[in-house]
Amino acid sequence: MAVFLYLTTIVVGILSALLYTPLKRQATIIGLLRPLNSWENIHGIENRVIRDTVACEDLHYHEPSDMLYSACMGDMEKAAGWFPGSGTLDHPENPSLGTLVVIDPKTMKTKKLSLENFPATAFVTHGISIYSHPSDHNTVFIFAVNHHPNPLQTSASPEQPKAASRIELFTHAVGSDTATHLRSISHPLIRTPNDLLALSEKEFLVTNCHHYRDGLMRLVEDISHIPWTDLVHVSIDDHDVTATVSLNSIGTNNGLGWGPNGQILIGDATGGNLYFAGLEAENKTVSISHHVPVDSVVDNPSFFSDPYSQFDGKDYSGYLLPGIGRPIDFGTNYKDPTGQAPIPSIVWYVPVNAGRKEGEGGDKQARLVFSDDGSSLRGVTTAVIVAIDPATNDGKREGWLFLTGVVAPNMLATKIDFATTL
Ligand SMILES: *[C@@H]1O[C@H](CO)[C@@H](O)[C@H](O)[C@H]1NC(C)=O
Repeated sequence: MAVFLYLTTIVVGILSALLYTPLKRQATIIGLLRPLNSWENIHGIENRVIRDTVACEDLHYHEPSDMLYSACMGDMEKAAGWFPGSGTLDHPENPSLGTLVVIDPKTMKTKKLSLENFPATAFVTHGISIYSHPSDHNTVFIFAVNHHPNPLQTSASPEQPKAASRIELFTHAVGSDTATHLRSISHPLIRTPNDLLALSEKEFLVTNCHHYRDGLMRLVEDISHIPWTDLVHVSIDDHDVTATVSLNSIGTNNGLGWGPNGQILIGDATGGNLYFAGLEAENKTVSISHHVPVDSVVDNPSFFSDPYSQFDGKDYSGYLLPGIGRPIDFGTNYKDPTGQAPIPSIVWYVPVNAGRKEGEGGDKQARLVFSDDGSSLRGVTTAVIVAIDPATNDGKREGWLFLTGVVAPNMLATKIDFATTL
């Protein structure tokens, strides 16, 4: 008996030691250890609310035109009722008809593009990616996820998936008020599209963020990190859509972005990791180099390339990793049609060195650059820095951190001081 007890104690001890770290990490990521009533906000020097930006999930900076591009659902109630990206499938009869939005990072003015040649009755926006040909910076191709309800799903055909998610391709002339729809792109391998990475105007990567669209198994998928889903390479020509699986090893692969020199960034949402990867040109597979973990969900990663490092010899380039603070409440609070139920936000910055191979030196430490209880920025999904020219800013090295939320009533820009924040 004594021996049995002794052995039990040893086994339990070993198991707890083995599980303690991963369990604690998972508890942190899902927000169990971050109660809302003691939330500490971390903001920049000054906040600006960006008007006409309702429920915008993604955001990209187009350097040649110095403009930001987003896609917004535009209606809080509709976004809260139908958004397959968050497993919200309650109201397919009332989907949003969103649009593409251009934001001037200097004036903070927003322009909603009118969509030409686009007769769709639903544009339920999620991830986007922009592409300009190196020889034509004035034309922007915009790929955008559209979580269109599936017209084939009826009570007579309940086996049909509820969503017929697809990708829309638009073209936009810089400075104009319109975007022209070129085509819709559907393929059996594009099932639960989350984010996109345009490789050209005919080729892109897309993450399927889940295998399960809703229900208990989606939760199991989120918590277990079993890689049931994948990242797909898609190419289009005049008639065909060709797709192949590029990577199938990251459980909740989510946001995509570009790092320096063709590096591919992949957010691993509930795994709390940013993966650094590259595309193999010959066979279109994606190979992972390494990853950095942070203590929260990682949604859409972005890379800030500091354009003013020459000014004082300091390079503040680095990666931004946004994520919702309490996934544990997200499913319920997401569905609040008034958009009031709190969804806190967290944004990390990791220096450019973190993107270099393991073993190479330099500062790689992640730091918290923004934190909010959800009242200023509801449920951050993307964070992008646009630097302010120090020559027009009394020599100060500052920038605007733009933040979007998929079910936020507005985007936020918060001005940050690079030396003390990054
Ligand atoms: C794709 O190409 C890379 C680089 O040549 C190689 O390492 C990898 O094994 C290939 N993968 C497949 C599935 O063919």
